Amino acid sequence: MNEIYEAIKRSAIRIKDAIINEDTGYSDNTNSTGDNQLKLDILSDKIIEEEFVHLTEVKELASEEKEDALTLHQNGKYLIGYDPLDGSSLIDVNLSVGSIFGIYENDYSGKSLKSAVYVVYGPRVELVIAGDDVKLYRLIDGEFKFIKVMRLNQEGKLNAPGGTQQHWPPHHKEMIDDIFKSGYRLRYSGGMVPDLHQILLKGGGLFSYPATTDVPNGKLRMTFEVFPFAFVYEKAAGEAIDGKKRLLDLTPKHIHDTTPCFFGSLEEIKLVKERYNGK
Ligand code: AHG
Ligand code: MN
Ligand code: MN
Repeated sequence: MNEIYEAIKRSAIRIKDAIINEDTGYSDNTNSTGDNQLKLDILSDKIIEEEFVHLTEVKELASEEKEDALTLHQNGKYLIGYDPLDGSSLIDVNLSVGSIFGIYENDYSGKSLKSAVYVVYGPRVELVIAGDDVKLYRLIDGEFKFIKVMRLNQEGKLNAPGGTQQHWPPHHKEMIDDIFKSGYRLRYSGGMVPDLHQILLKGGGLFSYPATTDVPNGKLRMTFEVFPFAFVYEKAAGEAIDGKKRLLDLTPKHIHDTTPCFFGSLEEIKLVKERYNGK
């Protein structure tokens, strides 16, 4: 597992340099979800592949930017599901973006996830590793230095409601309105990595990306985005559900499948369960 973390660190430093120096324009391609790929999405994917290709403990790579999983070493133990550059359309406006990694064994189900890592490229570069607990590292003088263990409070103050409001189901809109009425503040950048990172570091809150009439299964992808963050939130003493069920009990039929998702501290997730009960 350590070799995997080291490969992620090397990738993160190269992706940070690419974000700073390379062209932020679109390529001529779309990915499996139908998103237009930026040149930086493709380059970040290539960097990660290069850093992982010689790791014999890695059997397979599944990327948000590739249609199919790529076999590396038939006898490898781990499968890596990753989003090389999450929130990449925010780069041209110079907002924070991230990379997300899920380290799986056997298959890409929530139960098979053994560890999760994400990187935040913001004013500073930070890396978070969730194993038994959730550790924050910061890139200082070319090295990732350990900063602290992150843990959510029982209840927070931030609300990050995703998806187009016009398409929210009525029970979801009512819940979000009530959360704001009870004093929560809006924190939503459009990048799930910095948005979820902020909630973790400020002690708690709710991030949601519900099922909507335009995207009935939500927008966020289980293998590359949702499971890794569900793992992080659970290890940080929070919870992650699809409205009713625990996200890490789900199994995608296809690596690019999406799901509605809610990540938060215990009190906020309790509220989601109450409001989604019977819906
Ligand atoms: P990606 O850039 O990898 O396609 O993912 C962007 C995701 C996620 O980071 C964010 O939370 C969500 O899209 C924002 O979607 P909306 O603009 O629909 O709220
Ligand atoms: Mn993404
Ligand atoms: Mn992406």
